[in-house]
Amino acid sequence: MAPRTVELIAKKRDGQRLSAAEIEAIIQGYTDGSVPEYQMAALAMAIVWRGMDAQETAALLQAMLHSGDEVTWQDLSVPTADKHSTGGVGDKISIPLAPAVAACGVAVPMISGRGLGHTGGTLDKLESIPGVPGSGVAHFQTRLEMDQFRALTAELGCCLIGQTDRICPADKKLYSLRDVTATVESIPLIVASILSKKLAEGVGSLVLDVKVGSGAFMKNRADATQLATAMVKAGQAAGRNVTAFLTAMDRPIGWAVGNALEIAESIEVLQGQGPADTRAETVRLGGEMLRLTGVASTLEDGEAQIAAALDDGRALAKFAAIVQAQGGDPRVCEDPWAVLPRAPLIEPLVATAAGTVLELDALQVGLAAVRLGAGRNKSEDDVDPAVGFALLKKPGDTVQVGDVLAHIHARSPEQVYAARRDLGAAYRIGAGQPDLLPLWIDVIR
Ligand code: URA
Repeated sequence: MAPRTVELIAKKRDGQRLSAAEIEAIIQGYTDGSVPEYQMAALAMAIVWRGMDAQETAALLQAMLHSGDEVTWQDLSVPTADKHSTGGVGDKISIPLAPAVAACGVAVPMISGRGLGHTGGTLDKLESIPGVPGSGVAHFQTRLEMDQFRALTAELGCCLIGQTDRICPADKKLYSLRDVTATVESIPLIVASILSKKLAEGVGSLVLDVKVGSGAFMKNRADATQLATAMVKAGQAAGRNVTAFLTAMDRPIGWAVGNALEIAESIEVLQGQGPADTRAETVRLGGEMLRLTGVASTLEDGEAQIAAALDDGRALAKFAAIVQAQGGDPRVCEDPWAVLPRAPLIEPLVATAAGTVLELDALQVGLAAVRLGAGRNKSEDDVDPAVGFALLKKPGDTVQVGDVLAHIHARSPEQVYAARRDLGAAYRIGAGQPDLLPLWIDVIR
């Protein structure tokens, strides 16, 4: 007779291993409702405390993956790849990266998430692009049927959507449960959650951007290394090519924080311009995707191919085609501010001290953006596409009293007042040089 769920919870509670069949049975039961939320919550807490070894983690990943549909791409003539970031502040890299990689001959069927807490989400950013006037489509559409997702990926080499009910339903339930039971912080649960969704896309290669620092999920290098190593191992055990980069998230990426503002910055990068850090991440992560798929022989070759696609307009033309196909107004690529929503108030935050910007704390900037309405505290909250920050001064820049540090894009004077206080507290200006994490901290293959 199969063990009862309570016996499996007790087994994990007591530090024993669960077999692949036991893990599969629990996840199947949880997905079909025969394992109730309270038993799954107890098991999740036992996993937080006792952990899982590499085999158990791989079995959990497979069970979550098999809880729903898996896309296959045998009919495509080009290789497939995707990139996943563990999330940060101002992290808009997927937006310039996906079309740039597609322009280089690798299909990118990307299933992304929404922002939660201080980290933004690719879907919220894309949905800030309005629809074509008169078309009846409100904005860039991220809820597409699976056959549309397949057709657009085949036609354009890229499609950007959100998780559907049929992709990893076990993770959809379990991630919400973990969110309210203090069981998010567990390496095996995180690995299975993130990778099951990415593997369900059916991609052959995956580049992971594991952020490190105050604005990241993983605050220090040791924890980030542990997570990255576990994800690379589990992804490779599932037969995929996987690389993880550890990158800095002690300060925001680029100049824009906020949905429409981040689209504007992404378009600058797609026009061959944009801030050095946003472009560098796009080029390197994209270059590694080309290397893993064999389209580039080395990382340097891959980086050169991505840089060329950004500089010669192919990546921008690809993005315009994707925006049009997904219901957005492609004129955003030529003249972003003629199309993107603008906040009614754009007010400066000025420096009250002279010196060097020593710190611009990513977590505080992210929380200030959430209070402004650019992000959400609960998954059911709406976000305001227009509000956010344009960060004119970043760590290492010198400033005089009265210099504009940032522009606050807000709806009301009260919001401007609160944002001045919050964003002002994120800046530290003084003598000396900032002690920053290097942008590229490590790579795990
Ligand atoms: N993101 C996910 O999708 N799952 C986790 O467990 C953590 C972050």
